[in-house]
Amino acid sequence: MKPNTPATLIVGSDSLIGRTLVEQLRHAGARIYGTTRRSESVDESNLYLDLAEDVSGVKYPEQIDAAVICAGVTKLEACRRDPSTTARINVQAVSAIANKLAEMGARVIYLSSNAVFDGTRPQRLPDDTLSPVTEYGRQKAEAERQLSALGEAVTIVRLTKVLEPRAGLLTRWAQTLGRGETIHPFEDMVMAPVPLDFACNVLRRLIASRLPGIVQVSGERDVTYAEVARHIARSVGAMSELVEPINSKEAGVPPESVPAHTTLDTTRLRVELGLEPPSVWTTIDYAIGL
Ligand SMILES: NC(=O)c1ccc[n+]([C@@H]2O[C@H](COP(=O)([O-])OP(=O)(O)OC[C@H]3O[C@@H](n4cnc5c(N)ncnc54)[C@H](OP(=O)(O)O)[C@@H]3O)[C@@H](O)[C@H]2O)c1
Repeated sequence: MKPNTPATLIVGSDSLIGRTLVEQLRHAGARIYGTTRRSESVDESNLYLDLAEDVSGVKYPEQIDAAVICAGVTKLEACRRDPSTTARINVQAVSAIANKLAEMGARVIYLSSNAVFDGTRPQRLPDDTLSPVTEYGRQKAEAERQLSALGEAVTIVRLTKVLEPRAGLLTRWAQTLGRGETIHPFEDMVMAPVPLDFACNVLRRLIASRLPGIVQVSGERDVTYAEVARHIARSVGAMSELVEPINSKEAGVPPESVPAHTTLDTTRLRVELGLEPPSVWTTIDYAIGL
């Protein structure tokens, strides 16, 4: 590969989505740089970048064609507990690096979330008025607002829940049910998940296609965690009685963190990029390794 081939920068190469994207793009032979805040992971293609520090002096590689911003504080609870520190990371620092990268001629792809909406209605449209009710959602909405000022240089990708294969809560449920033990999923919490591979496929297409504006990535409908648990019980041949649903409010989850709806309208994804999200049940099977 020629050294002056335009490169892609993944800001946050240790994140779930960032590290998967780096692997996939490198596998496809692309010239890739990452950023990390872990000093032991820094090398010539993985730059040190801590969004909690002053980012004004960060030296980026020349000739970055596209930058995908994955880094940030992604836990709702962390944002709720410390709004000012997390806003400095998720809004001010993200906006500063996006501006700098756009000034250098890079296209900026920013990863946002359905949390920019209040969850009272399904299938939110890209242009619906933002209505966040959590601190995390407010920070995502404010970052979107500030980055939108970059015009054609920015693509905002709103994602619902992204599930990785054979990891996390759903795999633990499958294992627990497989041992004949009970699980306690929320009956009033929903998700409209998409597979990690699909989300990365969308991002790879956006890196190549230069489509500006807002692109939404979502499962076609919401399913409750209890429905997901019963589906998993059937899949692993466990008795449905082992699924004992509980209520999130009784478990102490803040009500604003439990939206009634999380789906986003995906017309643009399907029509302009030709990408159809898998059905939510296909995504659940992928997540538990079926
Ligand atoms: N995953 C989802 O379901 C989902 C859904 C909707 C939107 N999104 C958005 O997509 C993006 C990527 O999500 P993800 O799930 O892949 O993220 P993730 O796995 O939670 O990783 C977040 C990354 O941000 C890094 N980070 C945190 N604070 C930082 C700081 N001060 N400076 C530099 N890096 C910092 C972390 O570094 P360390 O690894 O060193 O801790 C971590 O690698 C996020 O913007 C998220 O809001 C994700």
